[in-house]
Amino acid sequence: HGLKDPNMSGMMEGHMSHDEALKLTHSTGENELKIPLELPRDTEEGVTYTVKAQKGKTEIFNGIETNTLGYNGAFLGPMLRLEKGDKVKIRTINELDEETTFHWHGLEIAGDADGGPHSTVKPGEEKIIEFKVTQEASTLWFHPHPEGKTSEQVYNGLAGLLYIEDANSRNHTLPNIYGENDIPVIFQDRNFTSEKQLDYKATMNEDGTIGDTLLINGTVNPKLTVNKEKVRLRLLNGSNARNFTFKLNSGDSFVQVATDGGLLNKPVPLKELTLTPSERAEIIIDFAHLSTIDDVALIDEEDSVLLPFEISNDRGVESGIPTQMNDFSLTEEEMSLPVSKKVELFGMMDMVTINGKKFDPNRIDFTQQQGVTEIWEIYNKPDMMGGMIHPFHIHGTQFKIISRDGNAPPENERGWKDSISVKPDEKVKIAVQFKNKGVYMFHCHILEHEDNGMMGQIKVE
Ligand code: C2O
Ligand code: CU
Ligand code: CU
Repeated sequence: HGLKDPNMSGMMEGHMSHDEALKLTHSTGENELKIPLELPRDTEEGVTYTVKAQKGKTEIFNGIETNTLGYNGAFLGPMLRLEKGDKVKIRTINELDEETTFHWHGLEIAGDADGGPHSTVKPGEEKIIEFKVTQEASTLWFHPHPEGKTSEQVYNGLAGLLYIEDANSRNHTLPNIYGENDIPVIFQDRNFTSEKQLDYKATMNEDGTIGDTLLINGTVNPKLTVNKEKVRLRLLNGSNARNFTFKLNSGDSFVQVATDGGLLNKPVPLKELTLTPSERAEIIIDFAHLSTIDDVALIDEEDSVLLPFEISNDRGVESGIPTQMNDFSLTEEEMSLPVSKKVELFGMMDMVTINGKKFDPNRIDFTQQQGVTEIWEIYNKPDMMGGMIHPFHIHGTQFKIISRDGNAPPENERGWKDSISVKPDEKVKIAVQFKNKGVYMFHCHILEHEDNGMMGQIKVE
């Protein structure tokens, strides 16, 4: 007390914004949750989808127009559905006033089609990418990635969903009626001005912008009406920086069935689940034995109501949770290979680094052979303030967690991942393989950290 260095406490404040994150206001449940449109296939011969980044105005609050960005619409984006084995051609169009890129988060795709900061599309221009879908059923997403501008473009609304299906996922009895018992749930916290505008620059925090207003799929004060059946929620933490810990207000458990990149081998019952920015999880909540008067809601760790459910009288459809869903495993080789790449995450605010360096688009930090597994060790080096969680993401691959601080990962992380939370002083070992060639980014997915240079490049050859 009283002896604090003023600079120091200033630094503390920025830093504290995460530990004592601005509390989210409760959802009043007055608006039915919007469900992103499933994008129809393109009518042009050979083109699968056309994805257009554009500006728009959105009535988020009653009677008020908010300036927003979106894909194929004013705000957020549609859901694109692909099938494993598909040959895909996507036409991307930039109708913004500034450069952007189209990044496919979690997709195994060649480096030049991945939409990293080198692949800018200028205003008024377009770019066509082609690839084959080689990975299994999963909930992926897409968002812009222009150097230094990612956080603002995402904040203003650029984010869409990419679903991959395969024979395995279709064989199961899991709830799969899109928008009815299979629901995308994109969580984003935002700050609005008194005029209900998104003023990124006014509230931006170098250490990760945190908002007090939750939007789910772009809906403020959402509620979700469900039938008396099992409902699958595909959760995506689409926030710039906020971590979410999800719970049910009843304290009951739910079941996690998928990670970022595919189904878990078996369902994992959980009472709470934390997702750091860009992580996904598919969970199933069973409403079959509940009634219309039951008060069920998804809440966060501070007990803010995120998503209240309204249970209808409709019985819905029979679905189940298979006991065996996938055959994910760590091989002997992956378990015994030595660490060959070390990544040290360090710093805060605009002083964040990876292995002591800031992003340089002209520097390749690592190389790796296509199709060869290497063990990466991700270390979150604490600073004198203790440090903070950094969500670490690698482009163009789905990887496996071998250990966290030497221990086997929790059951709900024994599946394909493309983003992982790394706590201060934690060491996470992962087995990484790239199926394609090219230059890929790896970075902290706190978008302001990414923009501040907490990012490196790997060349796969
Ligand atoms: Cu969500 Cu560099 O990505
Ligand atoms: Cu990515
Ligand atoms: Cu970070």
